[in-house]
Amino acid sequence: MAEPAEQTPFEALGGEAAVRALVDAFYDLMDLEPRFAHLRGLHPSTLEGSRDKLFWFLCGWLGGPDHYIERFGHPRLRARHLPYPIGIRERDEWLACMAEAMAHSAVPEVLQVRLADSFAGTADWMRNRPGSAL
Ligand code: HEM
Repeated sequence: MAEPAEQTPFEALGGEAAVRALVDAFYDLMDLEPRFAHLRGLHPSTLEGSRDKLFWFLCGWLGGPDHYIERFGHPRLRARHLPYPIGIRERDEWLACMAEAMAHSAVPEVLQVRLADSFAGTADWMRNRPGSAL
């Protein structure tokens, strides 16, 4: 008998609606929370495009449909972030915003820990300035 396929993080999270809720919580916090004003200031004046792109990207990154790649090709995330100064401060603010968004949008705790770890590795790899880019 075939082993049941292992559940992807995308499925464990609850599919597209849950990914969208997470992305909305993330950008709502970035937009409204004064602690994230510096991070917000690096983004475009309207976050609608950012919301769609992060949603499309995360669906594929979590093991779901490859919406981002279908539209834009390989993510090349580090290259795409080069126009934005990302140092330790920016990395840590992005991760703090995402950690709060995960807690607010009812991501199961085991998954929060696992995703926080993966986000930390990716966000650190995105750094393109020594120290803080203040
Ligand atoms: C795990 C960490 C991160 C992930 C998964 C992520 C993901 C993404 C994605 C998918 C995009 C859209 C790229 C495009 O198609 O143009 C994007 C854009 C962007 N990211 Fe990140 N990012 C991360 C970390 C960071 C950090 C640490 C910063 C700190 C400043 C940052 C700032 C930005 C900005 C300013 C944009 C442009 C927004 C826009 O085009 O609307 N990101 N990010």
